[in-house]
Amino acid sequence: MTLSDTEAQARTLGGYDDASRLRQAHDRDWVLDRVTGEPGVLIDLGSGIGQLLEAALRRHPSLRLAAGLERSEHRIAEAGERLRPYGGRVALHRADLTGPAPLPHRADVVTMTSVLHWLYPVEHRVLAWVRDHLAPGGSFLLTTYHPARDHEGFGGEDDIVRGALGELGIAPDAVPALLADREILPIGTRTRTVEQLDALLGEFFTIEETWEREAVVTVRDAAQYEHFHAATFGDYYAAALEPGLRAEFFRAVGRVAFARQRRQGRVSAMPVRLWKLTERTG
Ligand SMILES: C[S@@+](CC[C@H](N)C(=O)[O-])C[C@H]1O[C@@H](n2cnc3c(N)ncnc32)[C@H](O)[C@@H]1O
Repeated sequence: MTLSDTEAQARTLGGYDDASRLRQAHDRDWVLDRVTGEPGVLIDLGSGIGQLLEAALRRHPSLRLAAGLERSEHRIAEAGERLRPYGGRVALHRADLTGPAPLPHRADVVTMTSVLHWLYPVEHRVLAWVRDHLAPGGSFLLTTYHPARDHEGFGGEDDIVRGALGELGIAPDAVPALLADREILPIGTRTRTVEQLDALLGEFFTIEETWEREAVVTVRDAAQYEHFHAATFGDYYAAALEPGLRAEFFRAVGRVAFARQRRQGRVSAMPVRLWKLTERTG
């Protein structure tokens, strides 16, 4: 079977450089503006295509090592191309953050942007890893997204997906069971509340400071959202469907998102929190 362009894109999580301008890229400077002094080692967790590492290397000539841990081989390959000019100052590791292996480094700064929800419900493992890899005086800069969620545990992208599945003839109240059957957890369920995170993070770190911003997504047309979804979520939701329905599913995601924007002036808006975490004392 020939794949549509969007299906092929979703398989490799391609087009993220462009797509991430709509939402995730805004975390980069927000986080890096909190890096103080002259760090020698920075580790980015879920480093994607290496955009944060590149920005950090540009800002901080003091960095002798900028390391990325990432699960997707396609993303590691794209990051490798992007970071080639920085030679031996960069190390990219293929890793699953739900059970990361130790590295022989201590970092002055660890960053993790727009990733934690993917590690639910075993986030404590990566938090323990970070605690063990922070140099004395180091900090962990983490961003977390907080879509409103309903009684089904659906929020953010889940709502758009439910609408798109509706366009394919699947009743809204059948969607939770369809996803559960395929072991696809709604993102709204994966995302812990600020209160839950406050308690969880406090087990591992001192919470020095937090900031909040609103992430508002708007698109120029339905196709742009279709590609944003494929680049960000890949096949995560599409895997609930027979392969023959997936191309239409991605198109429907674009249409539903754009219709929402016409009604509300934006596709989505949700709070994002930046946490500055340091070694736990006491
Ligand atoms: C939304 S992207 C964020 C990428 C980048 N940090 C940014 O802010 O643009 C989430 C990233 O986390 C990676 N990821 C998700 N689950 C992972 C896991 N279990 N282990 C390692 N990386 C993972 C994905 O492959 C993807 O690159």
